[in-house]
Amino acid sequence: MNILVIGSGGREHALVWKIAKSPLVSKIYVAPGNGGMEDLATCIPLDASDHDAVVKFCQSHHIDFVVVGPEGPLVAGLADSLNKENITVFGPTAYAAKLEGSKGFTKDLCLKYNIPTAAYGRFNNAQEAKNFLHGKDIPIVIKADGLAAGKGVIIAETMAQATQAIDDILGGQFGDAGAELVIEEFLEGEEASFFALCDGDNILPLATAQDHKRVGEGDTGPNTGGMGAYSPAPVMTDEIIQRTLNEIILPTVRGMKAEGYPFKGVFFAGLMITAKGPELIEYNVRFGDPECQVLMMRLKSDIVPALLASAKGGLDKISLDWHNMPALTVVMATKGYPESYEKNTEIRNLEKTGGQENTMIFHAGTKKENNKIFAVGGRVLNITAMDKTVSEAKDKAYRALDLIDWPEGFCRRDIGWRAILREKNNNN
Ligand code: AMP
Ligand code: GLY
Repeated sequence: MNILVIGSGGREHALVWKIAKSPLVSKIYVAPGNGGMEDLATCIPLDASDHDAVVKFCQSHHIDFVVVGPEGPLVAGLADSLNKENITVFGPTAYAAKLEGSKGFTKDLCLKYNIPTAAYGRFNNAQEAKNFLHGKDIPIVIKADGLAAGKGVIIAETMAQATQAIDDILGGQFGDAGAELVIEEFLEGEEASFFALCDGDNILPLATAQDHKRVGEGDTGPNTGGMGAYSPAPVMTDEIIQRTLNEIILPTVRGMKAEGYPFKGVFFAGLMITAKGPELIEYNVRFGDPECQVLMMRLKSDIVPALLASAKGGLDKISLDWHNMPALTVVMATKGYPESYEKNTEIRNLEKTGGQENTMIFHAGTKKENNKIFAVGGRVLNITAMDKTVSEAKDKAYRALDLIDWPEGFCRRDIGWRAILREKNNNN
């Protein structure tokens, strides 16, 4: 089978790495890919926003299956364009992708199908939004409705900040993504992510993870796409997982089907584990980046039959084996990220990190030129390791990371701290 993977991040490198292990696969293309994938796949300069070009490529290269990594092409309807031409695709239609593309859409679905989430209001008028603030507690959360690359959420600590956020969002700070906003109650608890495949009817639970969104150690500083992650998330006990399935994921599957838009793809549920139990913060309709990297490392089974079943139906007949060991990934980013940063700096000594058991360097913002690797993005490398404990996986990942010679790069040194603290407390 020939497979086309859409995307260029560490998530897509991890997917390509895992897909390449499948005996079902003969050739993998990735559009556009990055500097770390050439041993596994052919990188092609195909623009995913040009649906006709993607369809033509699939037809001329006998592509049997397209796996879409990021949310942008899904929200823009790439899966619909491929479905129309009978090309099998992993990922939801544009309508179903509203679960990520419109926060208001998801909140309304939660309300209608009784899915636990923060109380909220939806607004496109600033005065009405400000009136809604009266009598509410702080902190309070203001969110641009649409895709804002993780920057559209403001946790307002004062009413003045909340008012400012309303003016900023509706005033165009996030462009079309902020034509509407959601105001919601601040949830207290520990955050975790839960991943499950869905074929429209059936779900196949995957695994849990926790990430580090802030750029600075101790989870401080501005938000990023994620500076590291680990799986599983210790806060997701069997009981919490069961409640997440029963109270959040299954009602979503039934709700989307009842609305006439069954969801096919991966649910990435961002959860707050509150004193009452799991509550939904948000849905993403694709794998997390860098959460995908730790999931792929822990997955023992062939992923291709599961992704295919998500697209075609029959997930109820699939089961997956996982390593019980935790996996952890550390993101190396270019100094300056998430603000502005230099491009085209050379990364050396990557070959020194190769060949160690249960260690993988997934590339994100890199390119390869004349056999040298250059950083061309904000998040650049994901140093990923699996071991008996989170603590040992962390040590293994940083040992590999410390072999890399890239003065223009940086990382957080405390990835996994929350899980490691739990491990230490359990040992005492
Ligand atoms: P989102 O893009 O909706 O995942 O929000 C980004 C981050 O903002 C989340 O990962 C949480 O850390 C935080 N956040 C969003 N909504 C809430 C909420 N209602 N209560 C507390 N924190 C929130
Ligand atoms: N790491 C968070 C995300 O992929 O949205």
